[in-house]
Amino acid sequence: MAIHFDAPSRTFRLDAKDTSYMFGVLDDEGFLVHCYWGPKLTDNDAGMFYRQIPSPASHERERASIMDVMPQEFPTEDLGDFRDAAFGILDESGHEASLFLYRSHRILSGKPSLEGLPSTFGNSDECQTLEVILEDPVLHLKAVLSYTVFENLDVITRSVRIENEGTSPVRLTRVLSACVDFDGDDMDLVSLWGGWARENNAQRMPVRHGRQSVHSARGESSNAYNPFMALMEHTAGEDFGEVYGFNFVYSGNFVASVEMEQHGLIRALMGIDPQHFGWKLDPGSAFQAPEAVLVHSSRGLTGMTQTFHDLYRNHLIRGRYAHSLRPVLINNWEATYFDFNTDRLLEIASLAAKQGIELFVMDDGWFGSRRNDNSGLGDWYVCEDVLPGGLKPLADGINALGMKFGLWIEPEMVNEDSNLYRAHPDWTIRVPGRQHSRKRNQLVLDFSRREVVDAVWSMIRKVLSSANVEYVKWDMNRILTNLGSAALPADRMQELSHRYVLGVYDMQDRLTKEFPQILLENCSSGGARFDPGMLYFSPQIWTSDNTDAVARLKIQAGTALMYPLSAIDANISIVPNHQTGRVTPFSTRGDVAMCGTFGYQLDITKLTDEELASIPGQVEAYHRLNPLITSGDYYRLHDLFIQDDWDAWMVVSKDRGEALVTYVRILSRGGDGIYSRIRLKGLEPDAMYRIDGTDQILSGQLLMHAGIRVPLPRGDYASASLHLIRQ
Ligand code: DGJ
Repeated sequence: MAIHFDAPSRTFRLDAKDTSYMFGVLDDEGFLVHCYWGPKLTDNDAGMFYRQIPSPASHERERASIMDVMPQEFPTEDLGDFRDAAFGILDESGHEASLFLYRSHRILSGKPSLEGLPSTFGNSDECQTLEVILEDPVLHLKAVLSYTVFENLDVITRSVRIENEGTSPVRLTRVLSACVDFDGDDMDLVSLWGGWARENNAQRMPVRHGRQSVHSARGESSNAYNPFMALMEHTAGEDFGEVYGFNFVYSGNFVASVEMEQHGLIRALMGIDPQHFGWKLDPGSAFQAPEAVLVHSSRGLTGMTQTFHDLYRNHLIRGRYAHSLRPVLINNWEATYFDFNTDRLLEIASLAAKQGIELFVMDDGWFGSRRNDNSGLGDWYVCEDVLPGGLKPLADGINALGMKFGLWIEPEMVNEDSNLYRAHPDWTIRVPGRQHSRKRNQLVLDFSRREVVDAVWSMIRKVLSSANVEYVKWDMNRILTNLGSAALPADRMQELSHRYVLGVYDMQDRLTKEFPQILLENCSSGGARFDPGMLYFSPQIWTSDNTDAVARLKIQAGTALMYPLSAIDANISIVPNHQTGRVTPFSTRGDVAMCGTFGYQLDITKLTDEELASIPGQVEAYHRLNPLITSGDYYRLHDLFIQDDWDAWMVVSKDRGEALVTYVRILSRGGDGIYSRIRLKGLEPDAMYRIDGTDQILSGQLLMHAGIRVPLPRGDYASASLHLIRQ
């Protein structure tokens, strides 16, 4: 039993693997107060904490003051709690006050899915769900708070559904999915910031009085911030101390915020960003908020990372490629950009096939009038000038080489220079009378409208059915601005951003159901939509348009803070690198790409003989090492965000029988041969490990405590990868 309800004290205790989460009903009025989240407790005594809180009902003269410090599970606005709230409303008379009180609860085995939204999953042996039903007796609104506990992981997920049981519509102004009120005031906040070609940089800072947040109001989860934050005790570090991680299973606007109020109490919130959000809730209807994942670790950031990886690998990522080896791909984008035809693609593919590469991906530029990025988006039919005879001759040609075939699409977008736009200008997102705010010269289609999704899907479906397509890269290359939909009435216009995301999920759902053989990869100008919502549909995501091996170190390290290596698409590209101009060794590019879903994005016909000759060995290494890389425990051996001369990480198999260590020297310093010694982690101390390809056998304790000197040639950007095998 993971979920306990102590009836006399009306306390809930949710027991995950080594974690407990507690809250309870404070008094007869029914305030739902938070009690505890941290290392596992085996009794309900933490419930005593909240009994020490005066109840608003029994201290009427100080009701508002008490509300302002009470630790709450689902705080609302305007009745005394001036911290950020999880819920906000405007009722028919224009009032903002709301208050949800406990009415009942039920415990379910397993985990129900969320209608229209991605979410983690688990069966009745793996998890239990608690639904707590709250009511605002004045507004006649019901809030159903859902908590799922994963018994073998330190994970609790939360989501909220609001139902209008009254007779008048209400306007929801905020519905956040999770709120946790922490007692401690000595915490640090970790978050990820970035931009195009520089995604997911980790930052850590102390939580101070006031509000700190990361958010997106861009219509996508964005590359500016990831929908993630971790609170850690100030004394906690990489491998020790308490860490509380939050990640949002959603691909649109989000906020992740902490607030230290006047007494030093800290409130953490995660949910849809209230900016650009409003929802008219008619009588009898419901609003479902997305899921927030809460991970607790007593083993510092390492424990948090490993728990997120295990959860996403086993309870989020789906489909036939969730646990199987992905084909090694070659993508033509950096090889040709828009300048290609069937012959050119087959030239690249045939040389790639000879080296053992398994999947050929045709990127942007094969459809409509798409000869550059000014036109053609929206016209999802093959351009016969580029691919004479359509897709089939090309796909057949690729298949004849023994390779799988895949292609690029960007379904959510349209160029004004396209037949789709000329026929349906009102299908774009736009405020009437305002100039289009273009980005990459493109506009966003109004995916909040079913007929738009239907029309685009019917074109894409036809293309996917016209040849043997086994991979799709779904791109999305701009933010949402000028937020107007020709189909939404004024009092629903603020629903557009969320309805848009629901439309995207609807089409990804159709694609994955109708074409289960297709390996779907999401992408958004690189990693602008690298989030758990996308991972629910696609087992891998294009991590960044920056393919430089050195720049990728930070990008991949930040991304791997919670997303598994099996999701991180990483490719070897040409040098000088197209984004940074840097020249790195082919082997370093290989070592860095190997720790993701491995592939190539380059003109293989331009490689040197030596580079070409090393590809079969890289493909063989990928086949040998990928099962370990994608199922093992990931350890950071260095914090690149603090000191960026070098980087190292390792992956250890669950049974600790093998490990892969990767070390990259960035800038060479004098004496590197003497000082480049790293201490490994996660090995079995008493076991002996042989370094594959050598006759060196060393004990786990020596490797972890004394460390190992990494053999590297002199020079910048050198790398080494060591495969340890238990003897
Ligand atoms: C942006 C993507 O991130 C690139 O990989 C490439 O697919 C281009 N779009 C194509 O337009």
